[in-house]
Amino acid sequence: MAQVQTTSYTMEAFIEDVRNVFRTETDPHVQAKMVSGFMKTLLAVPGWLEEKLELEEQGGYGRYSLHLDEETGHPGNGWWLMASVQEPGQDNLPHDHGVTWVVYGVYEGAIQQRKWRWAFPGEGVEKAQIVEHGRFVQENGAVAYFLPGEIHDTLNVEEGRSLVVRLESQKLDRVTRFQYNPETGSMTMMNR
Ligand SMILES: [Fe+2]
Repeated sequence: MAQVQTTSYTMEAFIEDVRNVFRTETDPHVQAKMVSGFMKTLLAVPGWLEEKLELEEQGGYGRYSLHLDEETGHPGNGWWLMASVQEPGQDNLPHDHGVTWVVYGVYEGAIQQRKWRWAFPGEGVEKAQIVEHGRFVQENGAVAYFLPGEIHDTLNVEEGRSLVVRLESQKLDRVTRFQYNPETGSMTMMNR
């Protein structure tokens, strides 16, 4: 069967571009911005993720590893590219990513991102707690990065599944980080 030959960006080319970013840039913000640009290009390529995950039309919920890179990363080696296939309404508690930065890209569907920060008495709250300071929805092809120490949570707002691609500048099970309860003000260490 004849195939249409197209020159399109691939996950393998993306991986090489990300490696070059880590090799040539030391500023984590610059790294996150550059990688976000490459991810936007990758997300615009149709079909590649379903092919990698061998995904059916529906379901397939869960997390999938796409690439673990022991050669480069920030602050240490071991950046990780993964995909999560999210159920409608799937969410998580506000959390940070420790000393790493993270890029979230929506391949298909829509997720809401909320950002949080600590507020203390004198800053409009009675007691110290994390407060929301903004939210936005990422739809098909949209990319957002989160810098070291930033706090956010996510919610799948699509009626069906959302396919989310995430890059962790160092695999999160290697870093110390926290999860937050906005109601009680408590913070707990996360295992990953
Ligand atoms: Fe996160």
